[in-house]
Amino acid sequence: MAEDLLIVKGSKEEQYANLLPQIESLLFGENDLVANLANVAAALKEQFDFFWVGFYLVKNDELVLGPFQGPVACTRIKKGRGVCGTSWNLGESLIVPDVEQFPGHIACSSLSKSEIVLPLKKNGQVVGILDVDSEKLNHFDETDEYYLQLIVNLIKFD
Ligand code: SME
Repeated sequence: MAEDLLIVKGSKEEQYANLLPQIESLLFGENDLVANLANVAAALKEQFDFFWVGFYLVKNDELVLGPFQGPVACTRIKKGRGVCGTSWNLGESLIVPDVEQFPGHIACSSLSKSEIVLPLKKNGQVVGILDVDSEKLNHFDETDEYYLQLIVNLIKFD
């Protein structure tokens, strides 16, 4: 496909539904992980203008910052620490409506108010994390989780 995204306005569902096949096309036939993670982060940022969207990858029993869009962020997160490390530990997605209410939340920026994190898995093992932050409280819901999970499922770890 052309490397231009078609951005639409509309409901959250409409925006994700428009974006999903475009991300599928971006990833199709490309097996370089960093390139694919970079394009997914860029596509989500461009469509939704999230405050921060990016990936952490499991390396030597830590999460290490990967491709992202937004302000600079903490480089390493230990298992069980913060929202990302907790999602990794549990192997489950987490929606945090108010980061100040999440025990141990790691504040890379004081501007981030709510957050959603999804684990990336290979053969059932967590190999990374997708983290999306918003400047608005209570920004993320099950619709985000549903579509972000579909997007995460498109990323292949060979
Ligand atoms: N808030 C995250 C840290 C990553 S930054 O938000 C980009 C956490 O608590 O794990």
